[in-house]
Amino acid sequence: MRMIKIFDTTLRDGEQSPGASMNVKEKLALAKQLARLGVDVIEAGFAISSPGDFEAIKTIGGEVDGPIICSLARAKEVDIKRAWEALNNVPKRRIHTFHSTSDIHLKYQFRISREDALKRSVEMVKLAKSYVDDVEFSPMDATRTDISYLCDVIEAVIEAGALTINIPDTVGYSIPNEFGNMIKTICKKVKNIKNAVISVHCHNDLGLAVANSLIAVLNGAGQIECTINGIGERAGNCSLEEVVMSLRTRRDIFHADTKINTEEIIRTSRLVTKITGISVQPNKAIVGANAFAHESGIHQDGLLKEKTTYEIIKPESVGLTSTKLVLGKHSGRHAFKTRLKELGYVLSDEELNNAFERFKRLADQKKDIFDEDIEALITEDVAKVPEIYSLVDHYIESGLKKKPTATVTLKVDGKKIKKKKYGDGPVDATYKAIASITNTKSNLLKFEVKSITGGTDALGEVLVTLEEGGRTVRGHGADTDIIVASAKAYINALNKLEARKKV
Ligand code: KIV
Ligand code: ZN
Repeated sequence: MRMIKIFDTTLRDGEQSPGASMNVKEKLALAKQLARLGVDVIEAGFAISSPGDFEAIKTIGGEVDGPIICSLARAKEVDIKRAWEALNNVPKRRIHTFHSTSDIHLKYQFRISREDALKRSVEMVKLAKSYVDDVEFSPMDATRTDISYLCDVIEAVIEAGALTINIPDTVGYSIPNEFGNMIKTICKKVKNIKNAVISVHCHNDLGLAVANSLIAVLNGAGQIECTINGIGERAGNCSLEEVVMSLRTRRDIFHADTKINTEEIIRTSRLVTKITGISVQPNKAIVGANAFAHESGIHQDGLLKEKTTYEIIKPESVGLTSTKLVLGKHSGRHAFKTRLKELGYVLSDEELNNAFERFKRLADQKKDIFDEDIEALITEDVAKVPEIYSLVDHYIESGLKKKPTATVTLKVDGKKIKKKKYGDGPVDATYKAIASITNTKSNLLKFEVKSITGGTDALGEVLVTLEEGGRTVRGHGADTDIIVASAKAYINALNKLEARKKV
């Protein structure tokens, strides 16, 4: 059985999804979860692209054990030096450098010859190699590159010290048969290919990213680059959960597997949704709400008789357990801490105190506390940013014959401000009051409400997307009162906008 390496780029390419940008705290929380999931490599960012990315790579490198931590770098001296500065104290580190190789990119974007692109790639791999042993090189837009030139570049950068050669289908243009043949040709034509691992990085513009990655494995690829929920530039990247479960479920075909702890898949997927605000479609394979729901009577009949009649993957194997009652009003701090640990969260004393306080408040409002409720409490902390605005009080009047009115008090930079507004409904009135207090110029692009568990006392979760001056942010809020959850989500997004303005 070959072991395929999983290179997760949720924090880098995934973050290139419009509006998905994450702060350092959010990236660290996600990186810790990716380590629990068992990925081999975390591409934690693109060090030169922003101070936030630089900080995230450094912080993740210092605090996350297990996976190799990687920074992206263009084939430029300044990029590679910056990647090294972010990684220099990280025990398991990689620099991933890239240069376009297709004639389209060389002619129109870089305006350099094939020879110059090859020379620059070799020089920059050598430079990266002078800093770290583990160097990966990507010939960008490989699938639209002349194959003979592509093989020359690959051979030269392996000679220069690259240990991983990543073949990106940058614009999601390739189809499986063609992509499989490309990997096969590389294995045949590149003389020193045995000295490197072949990786693939497929985009999903034609919906073929997972299929292309799988055919690459059949033709010799040993690493797959992917993201949780398939998020990423444009139509996204190869989805980690789909490619991993395909390999695991069809080991008979692939004779390959990964070291992913698949029981962590659902939790990781939910965390990505909460942090980025990008929900997965209900029919999404593996992690969609309907992925294990059987609606047809014939299917249900079969399932009741024998699960394997209509189930190719056990829901438990991806971490989908039936909602478990865990705690309630009388549960103490020790039980809470133990359950958190079982769920994989290790908090500092201060974080634990804050979370326990919120848990007690929730237990007063809600009789039964489920795992999902606890996860929502913890994520609320992760999604927090420095608070310029915080909710102090909120009063609603609404009814069949009453014009909805919201009276909201916010603390703005330490000063309390109260406003009363009418609206089409209680949420609209609340948002108008908050907008008036904060004087925001942002536009509300999206408003989504979900219930975290069942029952009328369930925690409601609200995700909002705001836009201002080309910046898009997502806010998250959870509460047993859906109007309060809506207010929290809006305020969280406004705080994120303010934080971004300072970067
Ligand atoms: O899609 C792409 O080509 C990339 C490279 C930087 C690997 O993301
Ligand atoms: Zn990409």
